[in-house]
Amino acid sequence: MQITNNNLGGKDCGHKTATTLIQNVVLNATKNTIFTKQVLFFVFLVHIQNIRDKMHLAKKLDKLPPKREKVETLEIFRQLSKSSKSLGELKGIAQTIPNQEMLINAVVLQEAKDSSEIENIITTQDELYKALATKTKQSSQVKEVINYRKAIFLGHDLLKSQGFLKLKDIEYLQKVIIENNAGIRSMAGTVLKNDKTGEVVYTPPQEKDEILDLLSNFLEHFNIEHNDFPPLINLAILHYQFESIHPFYDGNGRTGRILNILYLIINKLLDIPILYLSSYINEKKSDYYRLLNTVNKFDEWEDYILYILKGIEETSNRTIHKIKSINDLLNETIEVVQEKEPKIYRKELIELLFEQPYSKIEYVVKKLNVERKAASRYLNSLEKIGIIASEKIGREKIYVNKKLIEVLKQH
Ligand SMILES: Nc1ncnc2c1ncn2[C@@H]1O[C@H](COP(=O)(O)OP(=O)(O)OP(=O)(O)O)[C@@H](O)[C@H]1O
Ligand SMILES: [Mg+2]
Repeated sequence: MQITNNNLGGKDCGHKTATTLIQNVVLNATKNTIFTKQVLFFVFLVHIQNIRDKMHLAKKLDKLPPKREKVETLEIFRQLSKSSKSLGELKGIAQTIPNQEMLINAVVLQEAKDSSEIENIITTQDELYKALATKTKQSSQVKEVINYRKAIFLGHDLLKSQGFLKLKDIEYLQKVIIENNAGIRSMAGTVLKNDKTGEVVYTPPQEKDEILDLLSNFLEHFNIEHNDFPPLINLAILHYQFESIHPFYDGNGRTGRILNILYLIINKLLDIPILYLSSYINEKKSDYYRLLNTVNKFDEWEDYILYILKGIEETSNRTIHKIKSINDLLNETIEVVQEKEPKIYRKELIELLFEQPYSKIEYVVKKLNVERKAASRYLNSLEKIGIIASEKIGREKIYVNKKLIEVLKQH
């Protein structure tokens, strides 16, 4: 999706071309051939279409809630029950994992990578872990991914401390992601264009007062536990609404995706931030944009809501599978170390390798409260039996849990 500022020319150009064509055709109409009549009729149709599109584009964004009959259809309820079941299972399985931090770290880093890919910020797992574990210089792409991860943790902390979000919290999250102070849009001119054709597909509200008014209506629905609609339907509605208000010059997609997970936590559908739609959206990106457009233009919600609900079902199932694989690997690793290096076996040591797939001597010193020498001996022993592999990055030595990295990479 291409976002352009101060460029409302896309549709105008089409309009002008059609008008000029009409004039030319009218001039030539003196010849009055059948062919000219046909062209005239065709141009007339194009002209009407242009005006209709313009009317859709100019349509004001409605406040929440949408009409009940538009968002509560039989199909939606059928899918809702499947999505709720998968999400409930995910919540249950996550609660059985003793080391929650390990889980959150693994899932959130993967999400930061997937979400940033929607904006074409491509990084590898390796680059990210290295950037987190060492002081090497970060590329701007890695930095953006790490900022996104930071924003998820900040949002989660805000919810833990206050239980809801204020407008200034959302502004803060966006600021962390984008690393600038532009804040809520105050200059008109932002339009959303189709990447390939350059066509303007949506014009969000332009006036700051209108944006603020819509945001306060959005927050009223975001922060209430019991809402007009079942929470997963409401999540889809809220996501649409936030993206359509498009309050910032940039980072609206990423901020909106963080709001999704925070909304699930507010509604106690999850305890920790481990469900994300980004990989699903990445795979079905053109459907995502098309369906947002269908709501914009025609107020038709069903397919869009089904898309989001299916995403929740699919990604919950994927995440359940991933959590199981991580947990199996953890247990397997514990068994191997207990058998082959019983003298150095400490549960916290093995858990550390799962909390920090790229580990360092300092981490062991801190976590186990041991001397550097002992920490280094532990890591070297684990390397000897193939649990980790060391790598030198600049002057630092890091120890990689390669099997875990493989599991994290899988979808
Ligand atoms: N027709 C539309 N109506 C409403 N919102 C749209 C429409 N098309 C795209 N969007 C939203 O705009 C977002 C992109 O906006 P922006 O570039 O500000 O966010 P980003 O975080 O930088 O990008 P991205 O979401 O691509 O990572 C998309 O993720 C999508 O949610
Ligand atoms: Mg962008």
